[in-house]
Amino acid sequence: MNNKIPLLLRAMRGEQIDRIPFWYMRQAGRYLPEYNEIRRGKSFIEVMENPDHAFEISMQPLRRFQMDAIIMFSDILTPIRAAGIPLHFEEKKGPVLEKTVQSEADLDIFRNFDAAKACPYVVEILQRLRAEIEPLPSRPALLGFAGAPFTLASYLIEGGSTQKFEKTKACLFKDTELFLRLSDVLADLTIEYLKMQFKAGADAVQIFDSWGGILSPAHYAEFSAPFTKRIIDAIRQAGKPVILFVGNGSHLLGQMNGQKPDAISLDWRITADQALSQVDSEIALQGNMDPLVLYGTPERTRKETLKVLEAFGRRSRYIFNLGHGIHPASGLDNVQAMVETVKSFKLA
Ligand code: CP3
Repeated sequence: MNNKIPLLLRAMRGEQIDRIPFWYMRQAGRYLPEYNEIRRGKSFIEVMENPDHAFEISMQPLRRFQMDAIIMFSDILTPIRAAGIPLHFEEKKGPVLEKTVQSEADLDIFRNFDAAKACPYVVEILQRLRAEIEPLPSRPALLGFAGAPFTLASYLIEGGSTQKFEKTKACLFKDTELFLRLSDVLADLTIEYLKMQFKAGADAVQIFDSWGGILSPAHYAEFSAPFTKRIIDAIRQAGKPVILFVGNGSHLLGQMNGQKPDAISLDWRITADQALSQVDSEIALQGNMDPLVLYGTPERTRKETLKVLEAFGRRSRYIFNLGHGIHPASGLDNVQAMVETVKSFKLA
C-alpha cells in the first residue's frame, strides 16, 4: 500500500482502502477552546491574514482528532477582500461588506486578479501546512477552497448575510446581464485563486456553493451551475481533484453530478439511497450527518454516525463528513464520539 498518497485522495480515486477517511467542514473554529484562545482580543480577519495564527488554527483540529484532511484556515470572502472590497466580520451578523456591486463598472476590480500577489498569506499558510504534514508517515490531505460564484455574488449584492436573498433574486430577474457578467468574472478570479492554492501545496479543493440551494432547478441551471462547471473543468484539466458542495442542494444533485466534479459533498436532507441512485460511480460522495446531531449526547452521536457509515460505506469512493459546517456550540465529547466511531468502523 502506498502511504505517501493520502487516504482521502485514494478513497476519491476509488482505490482499495481499509478505513473510511473523514474530515468535517469548519473543523477549525469556535467549538475548539484552543481556537477561542488564539482569537481572544483579535478580529477574525487579523487571525486569518496572519500566517502564524492561521497555520496554528488549521493544525488544531488535526492535533486533537487526527482527521484525514486539513483545510486551510481562511474564508470564502478572502479573495473578495483582497480584490479590494472592504469587509469585516461582526459577532452576530457575520460578514459585512462596505461596498456592493451595483453596476458593470463595479466588476473591474475583479478582473486580472493575481492571487499570489493579492493573498500572499494564503500562499504561506498552504506552504507551511504542506511542509508540516509532508514527513508524516500517513499524512492527511491538504485542502484548499473557494466560494462558488453564485454564493460570492450573493454576498456582493446583499452586502452581507441574508435569509431571503431578495436583492440577489431581484438582480437575477431584473438585471440578468449584470448578474451573469459578475458570475463570469468571479469564475475567472476563482480559477486563478484555486490554481494558486495547488501551486502552494493543496492536494484538492472544495467549492462551497453554500447558498446555491435557494434556487429552483431551472434557476440553478441558469445562474450557478455554468460557473461552477467552468471552474471544475479548469481544475480537472490541470489534473487536480475538486469537491463540489451545494448547501440545501438535494434537489440539484442530478445537476451537480452532471458537472462531473471528483466528489460531491451532500447535506443531510437526502437519504443514501437517493444519493447513490443519482450520482455516477466514478464520483466520490462526502457527507452527510446533520451537524446538529453534535448538540445531542455521545450515545446518540455514535448511533447517528454509524447509520451514515453503514448507508454510504458500502459504496467505494466515500468520505465521512457533516452535511454542513460544525456549529460553535457542538460538544467536544460528541465530536470525540463521532471521530472514534468513524475510525473504528470496519469495512466489510
Ligand atoms: O475549518 C474550516 O472549514 C476552514 C475555515 C472556513 C471558514 N469559513 C472560517 C470561518 C471555511 C471553509 C469557511 C467558508 C465559508 N465562509 C462559507 C462556506 C461554508 C459554509 O458554511 O457554507 C461561508 C458561507 C462563509 C462566510 C462566512 N464566514 C459567514 C457567513 C461567517 C459568519 C458565520 C459564522 O460562522 O460566524 C463567517 C465567519 C467565519 N469563517 C468564522 C470562521 C471560523 C467565524 C469567525 C469567528 O468568529 O471566529
